[in-house]
Amino acid sequence: MRGNISETKWLTVTAITFTLTAISISAYALKRKWNHMSSKIEELEASLKSCSEKCASERQGRIRAQQALREEVTKSQPKSENLNLTCYPMMPIGTVHSCFSTRNGTPRQPLLVPLARACLVFNTTRVPPASLEGLEEYSHCWILYVFHLNTDIDKLWKHPSKSGFKAKVRVPRLKGGRKGVFATRSPHRPCPIGLTVAKVEAVQGNMVLLSGVDLVDGTPVLDLKPYIPYCDSIREATVPNWLTDDNLLSVASISFSEDFTSALENCWIVAEKKSLYASPGEFQSLIKQVLSWDIRSLSQRNRPHDALLKNENDELLGNASDVDDHENETVVHEREQNAIYSSKIIYHLILEGLDVSYRIDHVGHVIVDNVSHAVQDNKRSFFNYLAWKGKMQ
Ligand SMILES: *[C@@H]1O[C@H](CO)[C@@H](O)[C@H](O)[C@H]1NC(C)=O
Ligand SMILES: *[C@@H]1O[C@H](CO)[C@@H](O)[C@H](O)[C@H]1NC(C)=O
Ligand SMILES: *[C@@H]1O[C@H](CO)[C@@H](O)[C@H](O)[C@H]1NC(C)=O
Ligand SMILES: *[C@@H]1O[C@H](CO)[C@@H](O)[C@H](O)[C@H]1NC(C)=O
Ligand SMILES: *[C@@H]1O[C@H](CO)[C@@H](O)[C@H](O)[C@H]1NC(C)=O
Repeated sequence: MRGNISETKWLTVTAITFTLTAISISAYALKRKWNHMSSKIEELEASLKSCSEKCASERQGRIRAQQALREEVTKSQPKSENLNLTCYPMMPIGTVHSCFSTRNGTPRQPLLVPLARACLVFNTTRVPPASLEGLEEYSHCWILYVFHLNTDIDKLWKHPSKSGFKAKVRVPRLKGGRKGVFATRSPHRPCPIGLTVAKVEAVQGNMVLLSGVDLVDGTPVLDLKPYIPYCDSIREATVPNWLTDDNLLSVASISFSEDFTSALENCWIVAEKKSLYASPGEFQSLIKQVLSWDIRSLSQRNRPHDALLKNENDELLGNASDVDDHENETVVHEREQNAIYSSKIIYHLILEGLDVSYRIDHVGHVIVDNVSHAVQDNKRSFFNYLAWKGKMQ
């Protein structure tokens, strides 16, 4: 029994010795491994540090280059006295080819004329067609654009103290009453950028067919964004009373003269090839929609001489040529003095290069007389209705 016990002890001691040896061997291996790893970590840390430093210096360089570029761009702008311009890379990325050939007749707000079509053509150098992928899945889009036809746009190059910029603008609905520019959507703004919404009819290559537009032909476009109803429409939004108080801007009725239909059919022989409308009938519907709003300029509607006009049924007519709502009171006054004595004025509305002539009688009934090719036929090279037909819903 004893012998057995001492034998067992000896065996146990041997086992422990072995185990300790094994442990110290693996500890040694572990230590070596650890040393190796720490030096590896140090190495990596050093390389990361040098990378970060390189990145930082590269970013510094990039920022410096950007600053230099901006300074250069600023310098190359038209030099206006003392005006410190800050430049950003905002160039138009596309152009609107709209049914509205002139400012006069172009609706004042979007979606008032559902048939108002326009083809927005993106510049493929700046916007590859793939940029439009997925846009057709939205019904509407926002468009940011430049009020490029503002007659006073040159003034904006001048120093604010010399530009004569007016803080208040005349409002069509207020018969010439004035509101602060930011309480209106007047085109005459310190920064002449317009915002509108339109229906997306179809997308094709680098072009978007839009409807419900209030954009004049040739409008430079700065950006397009999808309209997202759940965040872009605000149910509890309110507007001032002057926007809802009256229906000053709609006309009493619209009719077409007997000769109109044949005149339009004559024009159509040539017009069809460059029209975004399917037929003379559809084009006529467009005319009707456009003229159902009083498109005369403010000065033609503004009537400070009501007393004088009472016998003439309180209606004053004027010339609907390209009149600027921003003109001063002297000009408005003179125009109205002249208009008091004009009884049968022919107004002109140019749609897709066609000159539509019409009259408004003293109680707001519109009679469309004639249609002919306008003298200045703008180059309408974009796709016509047939090219879009298959794509339109
Ligand atoms: C234009 O900028 C320069 C440098 O920042 C400044 O010295 C100068 O007063 C500025 N001029 C005007 C008109 O703001
Ligand atoms: C398209 O953009 C390029 C680059 O900015 C410009 O050079 C070219 O004139 C533009 N083309 C049109 C048709 O606007
Ligand atoms: C209306 O304006 C057009 C174009 O500016 C002009 O040719 C025409 O004579 C004007 N008509 C009246 C009645 O002022
Ligand atoms: C209004 O415009 C006319 C013609 O452009 C100009 O002669 C007149 O000085 C202007 N008046 C005011 C008050 O700006
Ligand atoms: C319609 O306009 C055309 C072209 O200007 C003209 O020849 C024709 O006589 C006009 N028709 C009427 C009924 O005024």
